[in-house]
Amino acid sequence: MHSAFETAPAAPAIPIIFATKTTWDAIRDALPAPARQFALANDFAAKPGKCLTLPAADGQIAQVIFGLEDEASKSRDLFRPGSLPGLLPPGTYRFANAPHDTRLATLAFALGSYRFGRYRTAETSDVRLVPPDGVDIADITRMAEAASLARDLINTPSNDMGPEELAQAAQHLAERFDAGFTCITGDDLTRQNFPLIHAVGMASTRAPRLIDFNWGDPSHPKVTLVGKGVCFDTGGLDLKPSGGMLIMKKDMGGAANVLALALMVMDARLKVRLRVLIPAVENAVAGNAFRPLDVFTSRKGLTVEIGNTDAEGRLVLADALALADEEKPDLLIDLGTLTGAARVALGPDLPPFYTNDETLALQVAAHAKQENDPLWRLPLWPPYDSWLDSKVANLNNAPSGGFAGSITCALFLQRFVEAAKSWLHVDIYGWTPTAKPARPEGGECQAARAIYKLLSERYG
Ligand code: BES
Ligand code: MN
Ligand code: ZN
Repeated sequence: MHSAFETAPAAPAIPIIFATKTTWDAIRDALPAPARQFALANDFAAKPGKCLTLPAADGQIAQVIFGLEDEASKSRDLFRPGSLPGLLPPGTYRFANAPHDTRLATLAFALGSYRFGRYRTAETSDVRLVPPDGVDIADITRMAEAASLARDLINTPSNDMGPEELAQAAQHLAERFDAGFTCITGDDLTRQNFPLIHAVGMASTRAPRLIDFNWGDPSHPKVTLVGKGVCFDTGGLDLKPSGGMLIMKKDMGGAANVLALALMVMDARLKVRLRVLIPAVENAVAGNAFRPLDVFTSRKGLTVEIGNTDAEGRLVLADALALADEEKPDLLIDLGTLTGAARVALGPDLPPFYTNDETLALQVAAHAKQENDPLWRLPLWPPYDSWLDSKVANLNNAPSGGFAGSITCALFLQRFVEAAKSWLHVDIYGWTPTAKPARPEGGECQAARAIYKLLSERYG
């Protein structure tokens, strides 16, 4: 991965001065006369996100002014400095004064340096930052690398990121940290009792599989991560309309973020016994595809009637969660791009999370805020549980009516979790529809950083 940081000691660096509407006048007045005149001539007002490079007498760049929201402003984007790598000419820079949050600004700089370069070279920006004093740059670098991994996996189109390639990416990560890796593929899923993963994935020529790796000291508390790895979601026979299908290469965003989270946990050597489970499938259309009204007996033994083949994510997660639950983990976490309803409720940048563990809920919310990796709690609302009823089976995967779609999906998953001491479910979007500072358009790392910090606090 391209590093956004200049690690050579005492490297010459161009200062970046952060200014706000309130501080700008004083900053400008303290500039050397030609630079002050240059700023005036450019009518520069240090508006949030605006950038001005000031020339030295020899024509080199002497310094950079970058606008931020006022201290007192109603909403401050702490990731604003994340747009600098896209605005600045190649070179090495340093923060000359403090942005609103130096650690998050440094992280934003790294996150904003990301470019998806798999199919086109020359995308890398050679803008580097000298790490500010007092910032744990190893931790920032770890988080940036994890975000890059998640983004690359999501941005890679499905023809190059099928169940097999996703498994290879997981295996690659597992081997880097000496984790034990296994993968159950194709008809072995039926033999080893993963009927729902098999049902969803069988219509694709690319065989479904269950990725499974274990890392860390077996005597440490068990933390199991489960990620939805739907490598493309056509909707199956209840086919998605073209507009809805257009970004469905991202439907393995849960798996990508689970791998990003695993990377951070293993790299930081947290004191956990980590298990990663990823059901990797393609929800395709073919003569042998599963159908509406089919009934399958899940791994857990609950029978599931198919109301809609497009509610496939909860099906593959159900079997993986059931397996995870069998060893009674201390903490069971699943991430997935599960419902359009989550987006209707909260938009693409604010994924809902679900848990009945009140302590965990407070910690998730606190770390989400602190890492600027926003998450918002929604309830596992018991009165809606009966909406999952089926007339012929134990439950239906797609309740009619469509109200509270993200909640009913969470309630569906909850039926498969019994023994885990604590369970957290996050219905992520995994995608940034329009670029924002530190968040380029495309695949996105969501929930992984907040959860990594939570795990660091508990098991660091
Ligand atoms: N992968 C989709 C969810 C999704 C859709 C995420 C759009 C982000 C954007 C999921 O498999 C799905 O299709 N869910 C259905 C469930 C419904 C059929 C009960 C949905 O949300 O419409
Ligand atoms: Mn679907
Ligand atoms: Zn899906």
